[in-house]
Amino acid sequence: MTLEELVSYAKRYGFVYPGSEIYGGLANSWDLGPLGALLSDNIKKAWFKKFVDEKVNCVRLDSPIILNSRVWEASGHLSSFNDPKVDCLECHNRERADKLVEKASNGTIDADGMSLAEIDQYIKENHVKCPVCGKENWTNARTFSLMFKTSQGVVEDSSSAVYLRPETAQGIYIAFKNVYRTARAKVPFGIGQCGKAFRNEITPGDFLFRVREFEQLEMEFFCKPGTEEFYFEDYKKYCVEFLKSLGIKEENLKLYDHPKEKLAFYSKGTTDILFKYPWGYDELWGIASRTDYDLNKHQEYSKEDLTYLDPETNQKYIPYVVEPSVGVGRLFMAFLLNSYENEQLESGDTREVLHIHPYLAPYKVAVLPLIKKLHHDKAMEVFSEVSKEFNAVFDETQQIGKRYRRQDAIGTPFCVTIDDDTMNTGIVTVRNRDTMLQDKVEIKELRNYLRSKLEF
Ligand code: GAP
Repeated sequence: MTLEELVSYAKRYGFVYPGSEIYGGLANSWDLGPLGALLSDNIKKAWFKKFVDEKVNCVRLDSPIILNSRVWEASGHLSSFNDPKVDCLECHNRERADKLVEKASNGTIDADGMSLAEIDQYIKENHVKCPVCGKENWTNARTFSLMFKTSQGVVEDSSSAVYLRPETAQGIYIAFKNVYRTARAKVPFGIGQCGKAFRNEITPGDFLFRVREFEQLEMEFFCKPGTEEFYFEDYKKYCVEFLKSLGIKEENLKLYDHPKEKLAFYSKGTTDILFKYPWGYDELWGIASRTDYDLNKHQEYSKEDLTYLDPETNQKYIPYVVEPSVGVGRLFMAFLLNSYENEQLESGDTREVLHIHPYLAPYKVAVLPLIKKLHHDKAMEVFSEVSKEFNAVFDETQQIGKRYRRQDAIGTPFCVTIDDDTMNTGIVTVRNRDTMLQDKVEIKELRNYLRSKLEF
């Protein structure tokens, strides 16, 4: 599937629409439509289930988007959460300068960490042209803060300046003490959070891949210094297993270890899980071993004691942190790209089908009366029953073959058909999306049948 095909598919079926569309849109902002909202919700549910709920030592947090601005001073975001930018003086196109260099060098240069002067020198010596107007007339490279600034309260002055969080992680660090005390948590333990994050990206793009407003799923796992390597390796495997258990094909994944010389001084390692997007392998999930850097910084700036007292050894220390962090939108794209197929059938026909894991499918079941005027009421009874437990859709338009195709295309794993047989025997036909085979199931057994097939 190309990126254009994905965008068109997502709009056609109501997964994702351009944001603010009737006003001409807003650069790379997107609405999640009826199916997209369900898919996104199911991705988050799957993550919470496997990263928090099924773990004996992990708990949740839901912290605010706007935090005390001192948080961003302590974390270093105010001083250094920047990207280099250049502007075209001819057409006013703005580019992320490091990405421009990387593109101009056909990927032979890794510009991450290049100084502004080195970027300027490369652009001049290699006559890098503006990708929009083709001219070669750039400003010098300058740093550009990715932080979204706004103000809080009735008076707009420097003391009221606040920021939309660029990651959810800092909310976890600053609540660390409250959580470990009230949850009576013992190291090692983790705090998981899902929420919106905002980055004023210079060049958002590639659909949901790089946007200015997105959701993150972040786990901060606190462990005893000296054990971090174990948990770092463990989370790498756990994240890959999570993706595979939800159907992501092995060949669509790769691991990339950040070179040691490029890591921040406090970091003990960062590995990205890359997914094969239409433009090639690119970052899906980042797993970082961050030592005690963040808690230390917040202890220094807040003057609060953030040490942990080990009840067994009576030793006090600041825990080390291992952090797997992923964007919901990147997972969303990966699951669609990985599951979509334009399948050639034996009959010579083709069908669009989304082989998405049933746990993630927007609708688990479609309820379809074979003939509207004969089977509507019975089908409504079945819909009322199954929708108590599963996201279900009712469809009685068009002939049955077309309705099956529509459900295949949006990934509904089961279609339940109500026909004359059902009226006489109370038995429905359940069609499987992937095999297209049919089972006969009694209505009173239907929820049990579906539950057993939807387990994750
Ligand atoms: N707390 C660590 C952190 O935020 P990051 O690598 O900057 O690390 C983590 O972001 C993940 O968030 C990325 O791997 C990606 O999945 C997602 N992400 C980051 N920036 C994004 C953006 N502009 N649009 C969509 N997703 C983004």
